[in-house]
Amino acid sequence: MRKRNETILRQIPAALLSWYRQNKRTLPWRQAPTPYHIWISEIMLQQTRVEAVKEYYTRFIQALPTVADLAACKEEELLKLWEGLGYYSRARNLQRAAKSVVLYFDGELPSDTESLKTLAGIGDYTAGAIASIAFGKREAAVDGNVLRVITRLTEDPTPVSDAAYKKYLQAALTEVYPKEGRDCADFTQSLFELGALVCKPQNPDCKSCPLQGICRGYQNGTARSFPVFPPKREKRIEEVFVFLLQTPEGFAIRRRESGVLKGMNEFPSQTVWDETPESVLNEWGVYDFTEVKRKKYTHIFTHIKWNITCLWVRTGEVPFDAYSLDEIEETISLPTAFKQCLSILAD
Ligand code: ADE
Repeated sequence: MRKRNETILRQIPAALLSWYRQNKRTLPWRQAPTPYHIWISEIMLQQTRVEAVKEYYTRFIQALPTVADLAACKEEELLKLWEGLGYYSRARNLQRAAKSVVLYFDGELPSDTESLKTLAGIGDYTAGAIASIAFGKREAAVDGNVLRVITRLTEDPTPVSDAAYKKYLQAALTEVYPKEGRDCADFTQSLFELGALVCKPQNPDCKSCPLQGICRGYQNGTARSFPVFPPKREKRIEEVFVFLLQTPEGFAIRRRESGVLKGMNEFPSQTVWDETPESVLNEWGVYDFTEVKRKKYTHIFTHIKWNITCLWVRTGEVPFDAYSLDEIEETISLPTAFKQCLSILAD
C-alpha cells in the first residue's frame, strides 16, 4: 500500500506546480512572504477560513509589523486584534513565541524545523509551512487540505485523525519535494490551493483537476468517500446564564477564572446546575435589580455546546469592573460567545 502511495506522491509536484502558478489566489500573506508573515497567517488559518482570515491578518500586520512589536505589545491589545477568531491560546502562544525569538534568535525566526518547533504553538505543520514557504526548504506541511488531497489520490482509508499517519505522510511527502527554493514554497501552497479550489470537502471538482491522471479516487469514482474521519465525539451540552449587567458605571465585565475561555474577558456568566438568575445575582451581591429582557442563543466550541440565556439586567450595584459600550467596542476583547449577547440591546 505504502509503496504504491509513494509512486503516486512522486508524480504530484510536476503536475501541480504549473497548475498552481496559473491558478493561485492573491492572498495578503503572499504579497511579501516573510517568515513573520507566513507564521502569523498560518496560525490564523488553523481552524479559520481563508476569507475570514484575510481581514484579521491585514489588521494584525499593520498593528504589529515585526516580531519585536508582537513580543512587546500589551496582552489586551493582542486579544483585541484576535477578537472573534477563537482559540485564544493561539494568540497567547504567538506572543510567548515572539518573546523567545527576540531573546534567543535575535528577533529573526529560525529556518530549521527543529528550532521552530521549540517555539510555543509551533508544531510539525506550522514548522513545515514556515520552513518551506518562507525559507524555501524541502519540508512538507500536512494540514486538513493536504490529508484530503492525498487520501483521495491514494484511496487511503486510514482515519485522518491518526497521528502516526500524519507523521508518515509528512515524511513521505518531504521525500518528493522539489529542490530547494521557490518550487518548495510553491509546492506546499499548491497542495493547500488544490484542496481549497478543486479537491473541496463536499464537491470535488474532479473534471478541472490537474491530478486526474494519477488519482485513484477519480479513476475509481471513490473520491467523495475520502478522507475517512473517526466517529464524531458528542459535544457536551451546558446551560449558561450570561448577564448583561447594566450598572451606573457601564456594563460589568470580568475575567474568566476557569473552564473554557479561561483568562478571557466575559460578561459575568454562570453554568447552570440548579441556580436561578436571582440566586446567581445574589451570589455576586446584587439584590436590587430589574430584568429588562432575556434572549436565548447557542455557541459551539470544539467539544462543548453552550445553550445561553442572555439576561439584560439593570442594577444600582457595581459588583465588577464596568465599561461603556464604546470602551467595549474599542478596547475590551470579548469572545464571540459573549459579544453576541450585545444584540439584545438592539432588538
Ligand atoms: N491554508 C492553510 N495555509 C494556507 C495558505 N498559506 N494559503 C492558503 N490556504 C491555506
